[in-house]
Amino acid sequence: KRPAGAPDAKLARPITKVGVVGAGLMASQLALLFARQLKVPVVMTDIDQPKVDKGVAYVQSEVDKLLAKGRISPDAANRTKALVTGSVSKAAFGDADFVIEAVFEELSVKQKVFAELEAVVTPECILATNTSSLSVTAMAEGLAHPERVVGFHFFNPVAVMPLVEVVRAPRTDDAVLATAFVLAKSLRKTAVLVKDAAAFVVNRVLLRLMGEVTAAFDEGTPAEVADSALKPLGLPMSPFTLAAMVGLPVAQHVAESLHAAFGDRFHVSANQQALIDAGIKGLWAPTEDGGQEIPASTRALLR
Ligand code: 3HC
Repeated sequence: KRPAGAPDAKLARPITKVGVVGAGLMASQLALLFARQLKVPVVMTDIDQPKVDKGVAYVQSEVDKLLAKGRISPDAANRTKALVTGSVSKAAFGDADFVIEAVFEELSVKQKVFAELEAVVTPECILATNTSSLSVTAMAEGLAHPERVVGFHFFNPVAVMPLVEVVRAPRTDDAVLATAFVLAKSLRKTAVLVKDAAAFVVNRVLLRLMGEVTAAFDEGTPAEVADSALKPLGLPMSPFTLAAMVGLPVAQHVAESLHAAFGDRFHVSANQQALIDAGIKGLWAPTEDGGQEIPASTRALLR
């Protein structure tokens, strides 16, 4: 059955090579997914060689983990590893059919990336964004070919989370949208078409929950209490564990986008900002006995 809003799959274009802009956590997980499921070459780029190398190394180590668990055959492991390469130059996308950006969550950065991509890709190449909260329409504006832009938003951890939010900008071509839906299916993900509104659907709901937890925390409820009070709801992860996995700066940017769009319905946490400013990756740190604690140095930053 055709997903709601998806154009006829016959319009979809073949994808023989994928580009991923960025080699951070989300980008590396995407590169692995594309190589493993589509079995096509995937090239990742970033601003310097160490970042590129780190992204490629992440993919290799995740493939090794799958191999060790018996989830992938030795042949498939070798093939997947060989498919993923890195480059510091976007010229590597010259023969790609689909390029997805997963760079820093800031509109001007993403717009610059898309403008640079237009200079190197083929006229038919689809430009996708993994943005979690920014306007896909604004990213397409100003491009020579805005009809090739589509939102394609995955969730962390990419290998496990089944959903992709597909976002149509006003000028997105039917063939581009059809390709996005067929691609999601090939990646074994469920695609849903969502409106181009701040944080789409999933993060709007998630950030309401996270916002209330961080507001309680900012108002003086101890972090341990704020984090564990939701256990009876059966969440797969506690809120602060999830925030650390997503990355505190990303979580904060999504909260800021939603606050800008919807005002006080969305809380931007001062405590979370204090942790980000201090370069702390999450509230909890592992203890020697396998548990977790909020280190005294972290606690000293909280108000
Ligand atoms: N990468 C790859 N695989 C992972 C993984 C990761 N980071 N984390 C867990 N997995 C795999 C495990 O290897 C395991 O696979 P296996 O069955 O083949 O061994 C499977 O997932 C289950 O993992 P665990 O048994 O270790 O742990 P859980 O059952 O607790 O599940 C979880 C882990 C799936 C991460 C679960 O805790 C969960 O669903 N958490 C919530 C995640 C969530 O809400 N994500 C959305 C965040 S918002 C977002 O990403 C949007 C962004 O744009 C801001």
